[in-house]
Amino acid sequence: MTQDFSDTTDALRGIFITFEGGEGAGKTTHIRFLSEALRAHGREVLCLREPGGTEVGEQLRAVVLDPANDGLSDEAELLIYEAARAQLVAQVIAPALERGAVVLCDRFTDSTVAYQACGRGLPRMFVDRVNEFACQGVHPDRTILMTTGGAANVGLVRATHRGGADRLEQAGEQFHARVNEAFVEIARCDPERVRVVVSDGSKSATAAAVFAELADLFPWMAQIAADPAFFERLDVKRSQVEA
Ligand code: TMP
Repeated sequence: MTQDFSDTTDALRGIFITFEGGEGAGKTTHIRFLSEALRAHGREVLCLREPGGTEVGEQLRAVVLDPANDGLSDEAELLIYEAARAQLVAQVIAPALERGAVVLCDRFTDSTVAYQACGRGLPRMFVDRVNEFACQGVHPDRTILMTTGGAANVGLVRATHRGGADRLEQAGEQFHARVNEAFVEIARCDPERVRVVVSDGSKSATAAAVFAELADLFPWMAQIAADPAFFERLDVKRSQVEA
């Protein structure tokens, strides 16, 4: 049966949703799944990642994540992330929101607070100010914080097993424990914007939880979030789908 996506009350306002979390929390799958549902509902959707999403941003990403750049100072690292962000906001995010698109971004300013302020130990006040400067008034309407629940290093292990660890993944377990604690604290301080979704269950259960946390922004999602059948295909292994 085809879903009825005829509600158009949310059609005009640009909506900015960010996804945050430590390493390997499974953001990519859920951003892709959400984007498909939004497009089926008739929305223009942009899926972006930070650092990246522009030509300059992707070049900066390569520099900041390259393990060969092990001499990069914490201050330089912060400014590279902010330079990539400033370019992404000005060139892509602000114009997209202006024309009514939904922007889904894998990481944003909360990552800088978690990694550079709490992880590296740079002054929080300065990180907040430089975040503001890069964003020029653009703020997420909602942030989904994906956590791996239980063991703090589950996601890190998952991420580093995907291939050679990048410069940030190599920063050590204590660093990543501070980052994970920082995300929890960010969510505690701003519960209206930041919604925590634990991603250590099935993909379908996680996706339903993501939709439930967005249902006030897209009223049609409330009905879908309560329908397990809609999410079931997420648990089917790719090889089974292709067979
Ligand atoms: P990822 O998006 O593939 O996880 O890679 C981005 C890495 O950069 C990840 O380790 C988190 C880190 N990061 C920061 O340290 N500060 C930031 O502001 C952002 C956006 C990412």
